[in-house]
Amino acid sequence: MSATIAPSVRLKVIIVGAGVIGLAIGWRLAQAGADVTLYDKDRAGAGASHAAAGMLAACIEAEPGESHLLALGRASQALWPAFAAELEQATGLVIDRRCDGTIVAALTEDDRARLQHQLAFQHTLNLPVAWLSAAEVRRREPHLASGVIGALWSPEDHQVDNRRLAAALQVAARQAGATLLEQTAVEHIVHDGARVQGVMVGGALQEADVVILAAGAWSRGVPLVPPAARLPVRPVKGQMLALRMDPAAPILRHVLRVPDVYLVPRHDGRLIIGATVEEKGFDRTITAGGMLSLIEAAWRAIPAIEDLAIEETWVGFRPGSRDDTPILGSGPVDGLVYATGHYRNGILLTPVTARAIADLVLHGTVDPLIQPLSAARFQRQAAAA
Ligand code: FAD
Ligand code: GLY
Repeated sequence: MSATIAPSVRLKVIIVGAGVIGLAIGWRLAQAGADVTLYDKDRAGAGASHAAAGMLAACIEAEPGESHLLALGRASQALWPAFAAELEQATGLVIDRRCDGTIVAALTEDDRARLQHQLAFQHTLNLPVAWLSAAEVRRREPHLASGVIGALWSPEDHQVDNRRLAAALQVAARQAGATLLEQTAVEHIVHDGARVQGVMVGGALQEADVVILAAGAWSRGVPLVPPAARLPVRPVKGQMLALRMDPAAPILRHVLRVPDVYLVPRHDGRLIIGATVEEKGFDRTITAGGMLSLIEAAWRAIPAIEDLAIEETWVGFRPGSRDDTPILGSGPVDGLVYATGHYRNGILLTPVTARAIADLVLHGTVDPLIQPLSAARFQRQAAAA
């Protein structure tokens, strides 16, 4: 992004979308002295950032062919301790980042074979993941099903309460001087073919030097006028539920994954169980089949959940790009920046995204971590096809 603004003028930035991604970027830019306005069509933080489980799982989710994503995830994991501490100190709010690590349990011989294959791959990447015997895993989690065969142990994959995170980021961004306008949709982004001019809100142009599109699963629905290629971002539906544990006697301490389900225990006694992965557009239906599959898979791992009350069920929409990898960097006209497409890892990737996008906007520097992630890759892929 080329800087065409005189250095003495306060940079005016508009951010479309106040989920954790928009809020964290807004916080960083406002801290640096930019004049930041965030718009959200709904309540801030009420999108995927509210729906998520809050796992910060770079290691256990490492997949072949996703080296850019792994590097980004590991960089963000490294930033998380200082990011959380700064946020809690700035706001006086607790975001409940828990550092108990993640267990991926094998309940069958097939699971064991698959997990040991995964472990061998993770070791080729030097990731800190190890194998636990059945006795060791049950020592750590006594409520695990008696038939557990063993488990992967990922000591650096932690979790945070994503709802508390979104709430704290709102306070931090406002305290740093950002303006947050909720229930206020951006209709489209305006440009003159060369550079961005602002956004259209309620039929009026709101001018800005920089517009950052951070509208999550709705990013495709915020067009550029005059038109340019729309971002290839789609909603990927996830159904979830929360059970109520006794916080003084929780039945789980670590994040636990087993085939088809994950369980995430919070200090306040909530036990989050997720999630379905469905290509159903913005369908908000909570289905019997979705709930049945989650509860049954969770019950096979931790039979004691059958006595717990169901506290909440919900649906959220992951922002999935065409290659399920984030879209981070400059857009097709000067002053337009994309920060979207975080799919299943937007909570994990919040600190690194905020840092990289703030550096891009303030200094024009492209962090090598986000270099391969610009929207231009989709044009290159189309040209090569
Ligand atoms: P959102 O939080 O969706 O925010 C986008 C905002 O843009 C919304 O508030 C929306 O109202 C606003 N908006 C949209 N259009 C407009 C407009 N025209 N004008 C103004 N505002 C607009 N990630 C993890 O790292 N760990 C997890 O464990 C995890 N679990 C998940 C489980 C589920 C079920 C789901 C659905 C997601 C999960 N994720 C997880 C993914 C993570 O939630 C997302 O990647 C992340 O929240 C994306 O943040 P965001 O700010 O881009 O999007
Ligand atoms: N990362 C967990 C999910 O997307 O369901």
